[in-house]
Amino acid sequence: MTDKSQQDRVLIFDTTLRDGEQSPGATMTHAEKLEIAALLDEMGVDIIEAGFPIASEGDFKAVSEIARQTQDAVICGLARAQLPDIDRCWEAVKHAKKPRIHTFIGTSPLHRAIPNLDQDQMAERIHETVTHARNLCDNVQWSPMDATRTEEDYLCRVVEIAIKAGATTINIPDTVGYTAPRESADLIRMLIEKVPGADEIVFATHCHNDLGMATANSLAAVEAGARQIECTINGLGERAGNTALEEVVMALKVRNDIMPFRTEVDSTKIMNISRRVAAVSGFPVQFNKAIVGKNAFAHESGIHQDGMLKNAETFEIMRPEDVGLSATNLVMGKHSGRAALRAKLNELGFELGDNQLKDVFVRFKELADRKKEVYDDDLIALMRTATDPESDKLKLKSLKVVCGTEGPQQADIVMEIDGAEQSASKTGDGPVDAAFNAVKALVPHEARLQLYQVSAVTEGTDAQATVSVRLEEDGRIVTGQSANTDTVVASTLAYIHALNRLLMRREKTGSDRREISYKDVG
Ligand code: KIV
Ligand code: ZN
Repeated sequence: MTDKSQQDRVLIFDTTLRDGEQSPGATMTHAEKLEIAALLDEMGVDIIEAGFPIASEGDFKAVSEIARQTQDAVICGLARAQLPDIDRCWEAVKHAKKPRIHTFIGTSPLHRAIPNLDQDQMAERIHETVTHARNLCDNVQWSPMDATRTEEDYLCRVVEIAIKAGATTINIPDTVGYTAPRESADLIRMLIEKVPGADEIVFATHCHNDLGMATANSLAAVEAGARQIECTINGLGERAGNTALEEVVMALKVRNDIMPFRTEVDSTKIMNISRRVAAVSGFPVQFNKAIVGKNAFAHESGIHQDGMLKNAETFEIMRPEDVGLSATNLVMGKHSGRAALRAKLNELGFELGDNQLKDVFVRFKELADRKKEVYDDDLIALMRTATDPESDKLKLKSLKVVCGTEGPQQADIVMEIDGAEQSASKTGDGPVDAAFNAVKALVPHEARLQLYQVSAVTEGTDAQATVSVRLEEDGRIVTGQSANTDTVVASTLAYIHALNRLLMRREKTGSDRREISYKDVG
């Protein structure tokens, strides 16, 4: 690092919209990406990796618009080690107040074999592409993908080349989540000691969580001299995900006594963005997830509750308010009005336009009629039922299911499809199967059901069920979600939500997505 007065400052680089969104099924819409980027900027993230502009028209547009709208954060786009990728990336990020190009190539023996380049040819490619990026933008990040499985000598050689060619940040990815804390620290220390020019640039750490060590590896890298942590909200990301932003930020805050480093992230915004990312990505947060899990601040056992009442510090190392959890949870009932609902949803981090509020208010009233007490978690679940009355082609009008000990169960459904009502009756092996068969009779498709998940939002037999449905069609994965006190209705709505997203993606096909993978580097 050049500025010695900033030696305790750790930059937070968020890649929820790139590495996180790359996770199969976590695809976000354009509007959702803009919303998440705005929340990241507001919470004080230093760098937002907004996407991979050459991957698709959609990615390009999202990165360009995020670049235009962002006030404070650096906006970064990803590019493979190819000149057209880098040009396209620059076209998208150049609108930002603070643009950055992030270019990378796999440097380990396994990754070198993919484009079939020998060590010298790859070194030449790195020199050429980083120089090109630096001629376009004065903020360039370079990553040797799979750095933790790259020969040390070769890693030193290519890092030196990238620095000489003008890279201002060198990111050291543990692409397959293979390293461990001591090794992660040793690698950064070794690079800082051995590579000429290392003290002129920032070293970053980018860890994946395959062995559950991403947070520990990132913090170890910081202790060894890295000053940028790459991470995602809720640890979203391919396979076991990336380092979780909320974990590193809170670890540095709570254990500042032994890790004297600081970030500029406003931790009170964590819960809100965690919920939004869970909602728009369709990846629910596991209950016992550190910091943002539903149980992270719940003290159920008698001993814990007793201790907590006497002194919260007995079992709490951080306060719920520090991560933006409000103390009261009991909220509203059927007499609550629209203004109160809007205020409560704002407090929970949802900004609604007037039309959206109208739709949510109707559903809130229906829920309050069925359920005496509506809790924060109920409202969050309601918001996860993200219908879009304007663009949804498929709507559920009514559903009647006959259940009983004697099968098969039967579902009678009425749906509105492109504005016209249609009905079907189907049987199935259980009520959900019958309802899904009825939907399929009206909306024939070949998509495969990859995931069907149900969980209760609160306690009690009148609790809402939240349902996630993941469908796969020709490699495209979409997720649908819904919540209802009736599990079969919630399931059917989640299925229809996923189908609406599938139709949306089908419409975009041709111009959009995943024809180019970030792994095709050749
Ligand atoms: O995990 C990885 O190696 C990456 C690179 C593209 C930085 O995400
Ligand atoms: Zn990654």
